[in-house]
Formats: sequence, C-alpha cells, structure tokens
Amino acid sequence: MTKEEIVDFYGDGARICPSLKDEFTFVFSQSRPFDLFELEELLATVGWSRRPVRRVKRALENSLLRIGLWVHHPRSPRLIGFARCTGDGVIEATVWDVAVHPAYQGFGLGKQLMSYVLEGLKDIGLERVTLFADPGVVSFYKRQGWLLEPRGHRCAFWYAT
Ligand SMILES: CC(C)(COP(=O)(O)OP(=O)(O)OC[C@H]1O[C@@H](n2cnc3c(N)ncnc32)[C@H](O)[C@@H]1OP(=O)(O)O)[C@@H](O)C(=O)NCCC(=O)NCCS
Repeated sequence: MTKEEIVDFYGDGARICPSLKDEFTFVFSQSRPFDLFELEELLATVGWSRRPVRRVKRALENSLLRIGLWVHHPRSPRLIGFARCTGDGVIEATVWDVAVHPAYQGFGLGKQLMSYVLEGLKDIGLERVTLFADPGVVSFYKRQGWLLEPRGHRCAFWYAT
C-alpha cells in the first residue's frame, strides 16, 4: 500500500505499524471511525468488562486522541488494537484503554502503539502524560521509559460505586 492509499482508507495521520508478524499489514489511525461494538468486543478479549455503547461513544467524543490499530483488509479491516487519551489539550494527558488483541500480542504492536500515542500527544504540544497500569503490565511501560510513581504515595482514586 502506498502512503496515499493508507491515508485515503484510514484517514489523516494513518500509517503502517511495523511488527514481527509480517504476513499481515497493520495500520494505525487516529481518524478512522470505530464500530463501537467491535471496539467493546476487542476490549472484552483482554478481559475487560463491556460498557454501555452509548457511554463509550460519549467517552470517545470527549477524548483527546482515539487510536485504532487495524489489520488491513481492502474491504473489512479488523480492529486489533486500541488506546485513547483524555486531558486538557495543553498541559496534561492521561492514556486509557491500551489493548492489543491476544492473538496479536507479543509481536511488538503494543510498543509501537504506545510510540504512536506519544507522538500524537507531542503533536498536540503535550509534554506530561500519565497512565494507570494494571499490576501485571507495569514492566511493559517501564521498559519503554515510563517512570513509576514513587513508592505508591502519589496516586489517589475515587469510585462512584
Ligand atoms: C500490554 C499489551 C498492550 C502489550 O501488547 P503487546 O503487543 O503484546 O506488546 P509488545 O509485543 O509490543 O511487547 C513489547 C515489550 O513489552 C513486553 N511485554 C509485553 N507484555 C508485557 C506485560 N504484560 N508485562 C511486561 N512486559 C510485557 C514484551 O515482552 C516486549 O519486550 P521486549 O521489547 O523486550 O521484546 C497487551 O499485552 C495487552 O493488550 N494486554 C491486555 C490489556 C492490558 O493489560 N493493557 C494495559 C492496561 S494498563
């Protein structure tokens, strides 16, 4: 696929994602619309609870960045990775919902996805980015240069239920 074809098909800013699984073409996009059922299906494959689609739609609309990772297919590309970011658009951003479909994990896609996320945030001008890692994934981020919050003393959470 040429650069122009990728952008025509997946929108501005889309580009090929390099991976160790070379029988497929993977593409990142910040602008290709999501099928919200497909998105929730993807997030369910990594064990996360399904959320009402109406709320997901609004959450995406209110996010700074919505990034899809697609296995290219000329008629029906398949969503196999996702991440989104919220924030004020100037100083702070937070990354949420980072996931790669289990069938495609371990091929370097998650790492590339995080680079693409950070590039997108840098393009907006953001310099400070936060995320809340699940305990089993902390070293995934640490290996990519993320700093761990010191000694568990600087985070606080509030849950409505
Ligand atoms: C975490 C996740 C996004 C990683 O995606 P992936 O495509 O498998 O990751 P990559 O293949 O790019 O791995 C990059 C590196 O991180 C390491 N890594 C991958 N998953 C890891 C994990 N859970 N813990 C620690 N290291 C991990 C890989 O071994 C690889 O190391 P290397 O660079 O030394 O070879 C994916 O496993 C996933 O979706 N997990 C379930 C959802 C989840 O927990 N998301 C994070 C929420 S905070």
